[in-house]
Amino acid sequence: MTLAPQTSRNQFWHEKWEDAAQQPSYFATMGRNSYSISDYFVYLADIVKGLGGVSKHETMLDAAGGCGYLSMYFSPLVKAIDLFDYSISAIERAQQECQNFANINAYQDNLLDFSTTKKKNTQYEKIIVGGVLQYFDNYDEIAAILTNLYMVSASSSRIIVTHNTDLSKKEQHIASYQNLSWSKEKVERAVFEELNHRFWLDFNIIQSIATKIGFTACQLSPINPQLFQANHMFDFYLEK
Ligand SMILES: C[S@@+](CC[C@H](N)C(=O)[O-])C[C@H]1O[C@@H](n2cnc3c(N)ncnc32)[C@H](O)[C@@H]1O
Repeated sequence: MTLAPQTSRNQFWHEKWEDAAQQPSYFATMGRNSYSISDYFVYLADIVKGLGGVSKHETMLDAAGGCGYLSMYFSPLVKAIDLFDYSISAIERAQQECQNFANINAYQDNLLDFSTTKKKNTQYEKIIVGGVLQYFDNYDEIAAILTNLYMVSASSSRIIVTHNTDLSKKEQHIASYQNLSWSKEKVERAVFEELNHRFWLDFNIIQSIATKIGFTACQLSPINPQLFQANHMFDFYLEK
């Protein structure tokens, strides 16, 4: 195993996500290996609350939606869902898994450009961006993603952005690895990954980027304490 930092965090993770999408475990494809079925439904409940509910008249975008395990839950609750991910393996699996859900359309796209999504000329009322901002390199990339979201969202739309690594909880989270009964090597690897392969985000900076772009609201949304992400991450929603 090499411990050299990568030049681009997103490039480093791309290979990992291609591999994850081929794992037999549904939760492993979502990077949620330790989730129980109860955790999964608690996560979905957080998303519904963060979106302020959903309705049958709304068109949804599941951005960086992996193999479609969030989209399938929302399918009967909304009009239509566009689901994209940059992992071709995830999208091939999503197309297979979502076959019985006629209103889900899965395709490859990248949060950094939204090139395919923009060509659809759809204005989405509800958007999910689940657990992905931590894989980017800097706030310029975050600003590009939020700008893309603004361009494809309808007026009065709501966007939930879940599980963002919280800079104010970084040190406390990294220190907590010392309390685990893991080998020294395993702890070192985990801490290395936390320090080098995750972007720890300051919510205040995100809020100021969102305001400059034109969003009318950018607010924190609670993570249920049952989820381990509640210890070191934050959810937020955007309104246009
Ligand atoms: C932690 S998983 C989250 C899956 C799902 N959204 C959820 O909330 O459980 C992160 C997903 O983001 C995707 N991803 C990472 N960077 C991306 C990018 N630049 N554009 C599109 N998808 C990306 C990965 O392929 C992976 O499926």
